[in-house]
Amino acid sequence: MKIIVEKLVVKRRNRMIFNGLDAVFEGPGLYQVIGPNGAGKTTLLLTILGFIKPESGRINIEVEGGRTLVVSYMPQQYQIPRDAPITTIEFIESYYELLNRKHGIQTSKQSSQRRIEEVLELVGVPRSLWSEKLSRLSGGTLQRVFLARAIVADPQILLLDEPFSNVDPEGKVDLADLLGTLAKSKLLVVTSHDPILLLEHTKKILILGHGYYSFGSPEEILKYDILSKFYKKCAVEIEKHVHIIDWH
Ligand SMILES: Nc1ncnc2c1ncn2[C@@H]1O[C@H](COP(=O)(O)OP(=O)(O)OP(=O)(O)O)[C@@H](O)[C@H]1O
Ligand SMILES: [Mg+2]
Repeated sequence: MKIIVEKLVVKRRNRMIFNGLDAVFEGPGLYQVIGPNGAGKTTLLLTILGFIKPESGRINIEVEGGRTLVVSYMPQQYQIPRDAPITTIEFIESYYELLNRKHGIQTSKQSSQRRIEEVLELVGVPRSLWSEKLSRLSGGTLQRVFLARAIVADPQILLLDEPFSNVDPEGKVDLADLLGTLAKSKLLVVTSHDPILLLEHTKKILILGHGYYSFGSPEEILKYDILSKFYKKCAVEIEKHVHIIDWH
């Protein structure tokens, strides 16, 4: 499986976000997309999904073996109305059923329940919250539920927009391990403000500035001379190590 981004030009509100972006994401494996706020990380995922039309250039998605292509997306922000009556299980179930119907896949109620329980366990949502209303979950738990929804249909490609943003420190380590495991058989494109969390699982890093970019191995990108171009004074070199200061 492959996402090929070719000479991509994208503008939003007349501002140039990508000015001829070239990148190939080849699975299985994990790619990180980093860069400051407003650099275009979310825009790239939305363009891959086809929600944003480029001015020029193209994105091709290739998948082997005639399998139906399933691309899942986990958004950076989601709003659950306070009075939404849906529970954790129902939220995943409705999406899973919709996808199965769309692809003409027949599953029994029993096997679909089993699969939903399996993914909820995998992402670490405690059983006591499976029948809880979505609107009552904490931000971090809700993020895990969205990840469970993203993986329930066993997609070949997973696009995850800042999956760590609301997760506590221990949860971050568990989540990084889980994404590393998923990346053994799938193509993952993950946006983040902290490239270190997923470093050991990362094939390449795409770093976005406002209209410019670099794409390369973690060793090529996580260097002071590259990071300081994108993060200005937040990139600091301490002895041989480079850090991006996270102010919040
Ligand atoms: N709905 C929208 N309509 C028009 N322009 C938008 C919209 N959403 C974002 N933009 C603009 O597109 C640019 C890129 O935004 P994007 O959300 O892709 O950045 P990002 O790298 O994901 O930032 P963050 O780290 O804050 O999530 C910004 O200049 C932003 O103002
Ligand atoms: Mg974003």
